[in-house]
Amino acid sequence: MSTHASDALRRVSSDAKAGTCSIIVFGGSGDLTKRKIIPALFNSYQEELLPENFTVVGCGKPNISRAEYQKVVADALIEFAKATEAEAKKFIDHVFFVGGGFEEDRLYTELDALLKKNCADRGCKDNRLYYLSTPPSVFAMIAQNLGKHGMSQVKGNDMWRRIIIEKPFGRDLESARALNSEIAKAFEEWQVYRIDHYLGKETVQNIMALRFANGIFEPLWNRNYIDHVQITAAESLGVEDRGGYYEEAGALRDMIQNHVMQVMALVAMEPPTTFDANAVRDERVKVMRAIRPLKVGEEDSYFIRGQYDAGEIGGKKLPGYRTEPKVSAESNTETFVAAKFFVDNWRWAGVPFYLRTGKRLPRRDSEIAIFFKRVPHLMFKGTSDEDVAPNVLILQIQPDESITINFEAKVPGPTMNLKPVDMKFSYAEAFNVGIAEAYQRLILDCLRGDATLFMRKDMVEIAWWLVMPVIDLWKNTKAKFPNYAAGSWGPKEAHDLLEKDGRKWRT
Ligand code: BG6
Repeated sequence: MSTHASDALRRVSSDAKAGTCSIIVFGGSGDLTKRKIIPALFNSYQEELLPENFTVVGCGKPNISRAEYQKVVADALIEFAKATEAEAKKFIDHVFFVGGGFEEDRLYTELDALLKKNCADRGCKDNRLYYLSTPPSVFAMIAQNLGKHGMSQVKGNDMWRRIIIEKPFGRDLESARALNSEIAKAFEEWQVYRIDHYLGKETVQNIMALRFANGIFEPLWNRNYIDHVQITAAESLGVEDRGGYYEEAGALRDMIQNHVMQVMALVAMEPPTTFDANAVRDERVKVMRAIRPLKVGEEDSYFIRGQYDAGEIGGKKLPGYRTEPKVSAESNTETFVAAKFFVDNWRWAGVPFYLRTGKRLPRRDSEIAIFFKRVPHLMFKGTSDEDVAPNVLILQIQPDESITINFEAKVPGPTMNLKPVDMKFSYAEAFNVGIAEAYQRLILDCLRGDATLFMRKDMVEIAWWLVMPVIDLWKNTKAKFPNYAAGSWGPKEAHDLLEKDGRKWRT
């Protein structure tokens, strides 16, 4: 497929660079910081998307020296960003550390003094991005301490303070609301960037390009032509070493309430008037408000839960969830969810959205599949509905980012035989550039002050509100777990959910 990709990339590159800033990472030695945040910053640095005089300041425990922390960062770069030693060495010149507990006033005064000194030494503006890469239990405390020490606000319009808050943002509606109001004591809403890394994935952003930069899709994007939508976020990994966190979370909180529902909102929203943060986020909230709330007693017809048992993927024998480290032998936590939603508005009335996520499924595979309605009349002799597959538009989020249209074609030969074929656009082939990790894109967006791909307060709350009846029900009822084998596509009930409607999961 030919493209003008390099022209397009040139066109956007001038405003891609972040202005002068310090990035302060609370939880500076944590796993997420080492695996995702530091590599994301490094990649932006390599691509010259960070300003010359930027600094990265790690904060937290253990209380180590700057040199020791620089070593932590260099090791992480070599392991997770495939940096050479020389590249890592150059990057760590920008790296500092302030050690201590997040409850200690001293930590904030030292941090503030260091940031001011760095700016004075480097002759740059004291713009700050605070990144909370910590356990959620200390989010509110850190935000408030930043406020208490006068570090969350600046006078005048030529400097800024922003804060990125990692997920999980609350564990239910009540705790999310409480966290929102605690943070609001120190930061105004426009300063708060709640991260959902799915929104930073290229194909997820491409939903907007596909829908709103092309004339051919949007006219079909409604109940008249679309039969149903399937959104799958499948993982082959199990809970790895995160059993402690996962036992308290489960797939509904971990994936559906945030990543998968946000993807659904992008698929279902109305066209925003402009591509700016509030216009796009208003539309996402509006469509979430149109999602039909569950009625008491009908949860089981709309939400299915599963938990993996021992099984096999790619010939490798795998243990069941209940025998994973830090998991209870009688765990009631779901590792799989399938759900059906309706959006009660003019565009989507009657069109089901089937959402599915799970751990230890046969492969890593995240996609959005738009199933179009069948043709109204089949004129080819001897063919029935079953012989002719409906058209499907597939947006493959990962791996192998691509967009495919599946349609019927004539098989060459003397008779009119039909067969489904694919028309495929692959990112790797078309653009010949590496795809940036979601974290890189999102951190850069925050540094540039673009909140389009972040969650606003109202979005987080509406998403929790929608799933609360299921959370409450599942908390109080014991499931018949385990109910799917590692390496299968989830419990039988997940298949029944679609079969009852005369449909099938794509895989
Ligand atoms: C995280 C979840 O938010 O997303 C994990 O906490 C999950 O449990 C991960 O594995 C999936 O992200 P990705 O980018 O690997 O699809």
